[in-house]
Amino acid sequence: MSERLKGKVAIVTGASGGIGRAIVAELLSESCTVIGLNQNQDPSNIGYYEFIADVTNRARIEEVIGEIIQTFRRIDILVNNAGVTKDTLFYRMSYEDWDSVINVNLTGAFNLTKACIKEIVRNEGVIINISSVVGLEGNIGQTNYSASKSGLIGFTKSLAKEFGRKNVRVNAIAPGFIETPMTERLGEELKNKALERIALRRFGRPEEVAKLVKFLILDGTYITGQVIIIDGGLEL
Ligand SMILES: NC(=O)c1ccc[n+]([C@@H]2O[C@H](COP(=O)([O-])OP(=O)(O)OC[C@H]3O[C@@H](n4cnc5c(N)ncnc54)[C@H](O)[C@@H]3O)[C@@H](O)[C@H]2O)c1
Repeated sequence: MSERLKGKVAIVTGASGGIGRAIVAELLSESCTVIGLNQNQDPSNIGYYEFIADVTNRARIEEVIGEIIQTFRRIDILVNNAGVTKDTLFYRMSYEDWDSVINVNLTGAFNLTKACIKEIVRNEGVIINISSVVGLEGNIGQTNYSASKSGLIGFTKSLAKEFGRKNVRVNAIAPGFIETPMTERLGEELKNKALERIALRRFGRPEEVAKLVKFLILDGTYITGQVIIIDGGLEL
């Protein structure tokens, strides 16, 4: 355990998920004060402060961020990690499938950033958006998801340009296949097909993404507006 983030306050959305939990663990290991924002209560909270909020509910997000500022007095780090998939071929994609994925993955990140930005600027903080390789390459059956993840990349680059002069860094991470509940839902056949396209012949672990998050926060002090791919050498 080291203390490089002692006194800093981080918000991680989707903290109860596969990648979210690993990010929380990594930040806690640096003595960071970690606030996890979850849609539903986390049955296996690993020691973070939990707030329940849907990232699409703007009024609730503003309320929660207000409470966090009152209680913890600062916000230094925001990790927009909450995300959902509703995969289906384009012909079958409903308006609801489109709206819900864009609302959670893209507008959710906007909502959180909007609510936290003044605090992050005040503390010369860091924002990390969890995008996806699909946001760079596209994917069959994921027009909604890939559009949301590409949107996050444009959002990241624009924010980085707008807030660079305030010494706020904003980056995106684009994971490939990572072993989490999100990828568990894929069938065996699809998983095996995916493995064949990965140079390292294995899925990534949430901890590997979390280490990259920590690197961008602590060591990547001259990195901003970038999309860092972490996919084991995946060809889409
Ligand atoms: N697992 C992968 O292979 C992979 C690859 C690329 C990108 N990603 C991205 O990484 C992020 C984390 O995914 P994961 O694999 O850990 O998935 P996961 O399903 O385990 O976790 C997703 C988390 O988001 C939360 N969430 C969903 N909708 C929400 C809402 N409306 N409000 C608040 N929280 C909400 C869920 O409760 C959960 O905690 C997502 O943005 C996902 O798109 C994952």
